Amino acid sequence: MAERPELAGFAPALIAWQRQHGRHGLPWQGGTDPYRVWLSEVMLQQTQVAAVLSYFERFVQRFPTVQALAGASLDDVLALWSGLGYYSRARNLHRCAQLVCERHGGVFPDSSVVLATLPGIGRSTAAAIAAFCFGERVSILDGNVKRVLSRLLAFGADVSQAAAQRQLLQQAQELLPQAPSHPDMVAYTQGLMDLGATLCTRSRPQCLVCPVQALCRAREQGDPSRFPVKTRKVVRRHEVWSLLVLQRQGDGAVWLAQRPASGIWAGLWAPPVCEGERWDADGAGLWSEAQAQEAIVHQLTHRELRLQPWHLVVPDRVPAQRGLAGDWHSGDAWRQRGLPAPVRRYLERLAG
Ligand code: ADE
Repeated sequence: MAERPELAGFAPALIAWQRQHGRHGLPWQGGTDPYRVWLSEVMLQQTQVAAVLSYFERFVQRFPTVQALAGASLDDVLALWSGLGYYSRARNLHRCAQLVCERHGGVFPDSSVVLATLPGIGRSTAAAIAAFCFGERVSILDGNVKRVLSRLLAFGADVSQAAAQRQLLQQAQELLPQAPSHPDMVAYTQGLMDLGATLCTRSRPQCLVCPVQALCRAREQGDPSRFPVKTRKVVRRHEVWSLLVLQRQGDGAVWLAQRPASGIWAGLWAPPVCEGERWDADGAGLWSEAQAQEAIVHQLTHRELRLQPWHLVVPDRVPAQRGLAGDWHSGDAWRQRGLPAPVRRYLERLAG
């Protein structure tokens, strides 16, 4: 900032733009209830606004306070989260609600440093909550904001490295408005998010209508999409999981078991899984009688899962007689369960 005094104009320009052109009227905006802001920020960590809206409404209706959420069963929380993905967020959400009640008397801490000690609240989420609810002068730095700021500054270091992130964070703090009011911090923080989500997008950023185009070094250099610099590539492991989809003769109920408490899909409900290609030893021969159906490819952050359903219609007592753990679930029953998103989609198709 010392060598670029013009950057003092960044925060005022961003705030003015957000007030006029940014996103307003989202259900978690306009208030300072940390419970609602926290819930929305956790949901928005890896999910877009459009997908979060209906989940957010259902969550706050069912659990209107942090006490209500803390008192719920993890199963109920996972069921309501089902479809949003990244289920560790739901488990941390539940644990965090309990800690807020146990350690903080049911009141969210009002500083980003203390907030960041709670499960599922990283530095950037803590900053968002503290800025929105308490007007704390602290910068968020999520993926979108790394992109916006690395372009503004033509920041050439690899933002996936910890040292570069610390440097960028330092600069993000220097770009904050001077002596901001609480409403300024709200508009500034939301402005960073909105700029990244609407104009300063990964590909084909809309520099012509950007409120800070005159300050942007990447634009000056002619190729903003060169930033952020990332040298490490995400390597996805490929895995095959076979699913034994048993359907009860007569009413079409499906056999589901709860997944173990750790690993992928921890605590969720799914048909019996065989990690790898079909496996004839377990499920006492049921696998070999089942029909293969079209595989489903499911992308996770570090894995590509190919889910291979094997479908079989059986009489009522067969799965338990053959030693399979689980239970029959009617259409009403499985729709209430926490199911992995691809399993839910598959069962919806199966139910026709
Ligand atoms: N992404 C993360 N937090 C957000 C918020 N408060 N509004 C819109 N998008 C977001």
